[in-house]
Amino acid sequence: MTKSSADLHQPLVARRMERVASFLAMDVLSAAAAKERRGDSVIHMEVGQPSAPAPRAAREAAKAALDLGRIGYTEALGMSALRERIARHYKDTYGVSIAPERVVVTTGSSAGFVLAFLSLFDPGQRVAITAPGYPAYRNILEALGIEPVTIPLTKADGWIMTARAIEKAHAEKPLHGILAMSPANPSGTMIGRKALGELGETCRRLGLWFVSDEIYHGLTYGEAASTALASDDDAVVINSFSKYYCMTGWRIGWIVVPERLVRPIERLAQNLYISPPYLSQVAALAAFDATEELEAVKAAYARNRAYLLEELPKIGIAEMHPVDGAFYIYADIARFTNDSIGFSKRMLEEAGVAATPGLDFDPIEGSHYLRLSFAGSENDCRETVARLKGWLR
Ligand SMILES: Cc1ncc(COP(=O)(O)O)c(C=O)c1O
Repeated sequence: MTKSSADLHQPLVARRMERVASFLAMDVLSAAAAKERRGDSVIHMEVGQPSAPAPRAAREAAKAALDLGRIGYTEALGMSALRERIARHYKDTYGVSIAPERVVVTTGSSAGFVLAFLSLFDPGQRVAITAPGYPAYRNILEALGIEPVTIPLTKADGWIMTARAIEKAHAEKPLHGILAMSPANPSGTMIGRKALGELGETCRRLGLWFVSDEIYHGLTYGEAASTALASDDDAVVINSFSKYYCMTGWRIGWIVVPERLVRPIERLAQNLYISPPYLSQVAALAAFDATEELEAVKAAYARNRAYLLEELPKIGIAEMHPVDGAFYIYADIARFTNDSIGFSKRMLEEAGVAATPGLDFDPIEGSHYLRLSFAGSENDCRETVARLKGWLR
């Protein structure tokens, strides 16, 4: 007689998976889609992706490659032409020289995190992240058995991860690495050149890995973003074609790693997914020549940002983190609620505006925060203000 899995006391899934939370923004998206299926109109301020298409040059390049028909594997680390072009991007944009061999092309920055975390950290090691912060950091770390250590951001520190906070956390219980992002999701707040340099210096001194998520670079509204590589050649930098380059669905990104990590990461990439998608690599290479088109998209975000920063305070949404870059407003809505999930549900049902509850980004303070994305149209922003004006009280 064969034994069932219940007899063998086999858990259905690995126990650590219980610690991997769902992404509330995606739950809001499903609720919004259900409302639309019922015939109601919804303004989408919840999704963190550009509404603009991939640049024309990228689409043309992909079409031409598709017509040739042979869509095969590439080297696990990516096509050498793309790796060279990315290395040149660092020289052109930041004046930083990096060898193309240190560039690893990945299936979105999401895969970049998995490669980086697996190659840098062992299970049980501790990595500092921020609250608020991008929820997948915590969830990927948990899935890999690595312990996320939350650094709560404060207004006094300008809502950024500081070298002082890292030293304090490390003194309480040793860390193995830190994960910083600038501009940030959910807020768009940036870590300036000096503060970024201090983070790099602190990591070197304490012997910690410095992982820098630079996915929103290019989308800044004042000072340009600095790369961690400018002050720390040993930093592991994560980037993507999803945001500035408007290519979310193409699933293509990159990481820059120290030379000694290239071969271990190559072995991981070969085994995890063989190679990043060929068509997306061809398109990504062409996207570097679409600056004019992409700057026009960014100019539209800048107009949306200026409009919302002017109008939201007039309807009672006045407390927000600095919106230096990216395309989000992270607003403190404590005067309306301490239940951001319930609030966003009611806002969707009654006002027809979808936004992401802060609890996605911060398990504690997020109960009184809401994230609004302004990556959509100007009309979406105007309609949001018009609908919320009657609804908020
Ligand atoms: C801060 C941050 N990092 C990484 C990602 C993942 O992006 P992708 O896998 O599309 O490159 C996102 C997506 O929203 C993000 O906001």
